[in-house]
Formats: sequence, structure tokens, C-alpha cells
Amino acid sequence: MAVTRTFSIIKPDATRRNLTGGVTKMLEEAGLRVVASKRIHMTREQAEGFYAVHKERPFFGELCDFMISGPVVVQVLEGEDAVKRNRDVMGATNPADAAEGTIRKTYAESIEANTVHGSDSEENAKIEIDYFFKPEEIVG
Ligand code: CMP
Repeated sequence: MAVTRTFSIIKPDATRRNLTGGVTKMLEEAGLRVVASKRIHMTREQAEGFYAVHKERPFFGELCDFMISGPVVVQVLEGEDAVKRNRDVMGATNPADAAEGTIRKTYAESIEANTVHGSDSEENAKIEIDYFFKPEEIVG
């Protein structure tokens, strides 16, 4: 299995509850390595651009409000089959559906305040990594 990269966001509900370390520990224990990380407060423009694919969805406005409601930690994660590995440890989008032992089952408050974002494909991982990181900020 090839070593690949994915993109992760530790969302405002998690930074507010001081869970950056707890979430990162679960990512690392799942076999993912943090090869880039920065704590930022997204602008509305950044959030709307990042979630542009969802702009027709009814929850788009609230999603962007939430994502700029506090700091987030954007990360590049590396590991074997990183996109799938990360999605497995994150668990289902809605924490009510997430399996035991996943990040969202452990920490998420709601479908919106669901603690983490992770890329859904290798193609989107590349786009999302480029959205927040310069190549020299990623140190594998
Ligand atoms: P994320 O992986 O960051 O991608 C889009 C986000 O929209 C998703 O996680 C959820 O947190 C958020 N969201 C809010 N409401 C909904 C909803 N009804 N269905 C799907 N996603 C939702």
C-alpha cells in the first residue's frame, strides 16, 4: 500500500474544548503522521472558498459561520492509504452514526460541530492541501 497524504481540520468545537492534542493522538495512533500543522482563524472568504462545493446546500451559511467561530488547526497527514485511514478513524459525519473508537464518536457534539474534517478523495486531498499550505511548509 502506497504512502499518501490527506488534509485534516481540527474544527472550532475541538479547539474550544482544548482537544487539539486528544484528536491528534487518535490520528497518530491510527498510523497517520502530522507532516504539516498550523493553527489559524479562517476568514469568511477562506471558509466559503474551502466549502464552495456545498454552497447550494441549506447548511452552507451555518457551516461557514461555525468554521469561523474560533481557531482551527489545519494539518497534512501522511500514511499508508491516508485518505481512507483518516476517514476510518474520523467516523461518520453525523456522530450519532459514528462507530465506537472513532474521533467523532468520542468527541463530536453534532453533525455541524463534528470535531474534524478529512478529505474524501486523493484528488480533493491535493486541492485542499494546496488551499492552505505552501510546499515548503510540509516536512515529511
Ligand atoms: P465536513 O467533512 O467538514 O464537510 C462538510 C460539513 O458540513 C460536514 O463535515 C458537516 O460538519 C457539515 N454539515 C452540517 N450540516 C450537515 C448536514 N445536514 N449534512 C452533511 N453535512 C453537514
